[in-house]
Amino acid sequence: MADGGNYRLRRYGLFQLSGTTGQLAHIPGVPFYQSVEINPLNGGEHRHFAGLGANTVENPFLHEVILFDFAQMISSDHIAGDWLVGVHQIRIIATPGVPGNPTPEGTHRDDEDYTSQHLMSRRNIGGGINYFYGNGPEPTEDPQTIWEQQTYFDSYYFDHSLWHSVSPIVSGKCDGGGHRDVLLIDFVKPSEVN
Ligand SMILES: [Fe+2]
Repeated sequence: MADGGNYRLRRYGLFQLSGTTGQLAHIPGVPFYQSVEINPLNGGEHRHFAGLGANTVENPFLHEVILFDFAQMISSDHIAGDWLVGVHQIRIIATPGVPGNPTPEGTHRDDEDYTSQHLMSRRNIGGGINYFYGNGPEPTEDPQTIWEQQTYFDSYYFDHSLWHSVSPIVSGKCDGGGHRDVLLIDFVKPSEVN
């Protein structure tokens, strides 16, 4: 981490998805990029994360989740053509006295056209609360919705217009620290990248 922290573990993979046929093809070895505007701490450079494990790339359940999420967010008259699908496995760790920050930090909008976020695991932590600030030109002063995901596959779906943030996590009452794992899947239509 650019702040010297060591509280975040992640893997990243990119797929090409045919909106017409639902065919998924993994594209190996692609770095991940976020602008400085979106991610002031770690943005502005191509970051090479560990790739998805081979079992994950081939995992039929992951493929079904990608196709399910795609179907929830993209209207049928917008679906045709090739899409790029980013899959992020993110673990934030908190140890006693050392909180873990979410990614990216602070209130922001995502670069990608559409994104789904699924909670995988939440163990022995406090915090990690989602805040949503509308989709106007600026975020609302106070959050319009506050939500703590607690259960496996508690999920939310949004597009590039939504202002949002996640609070840092802190270690819970049990010994040994804790973590929050999320699966983030984003969808970009390359011709519409702005
Ligand atoms: Fe985000």
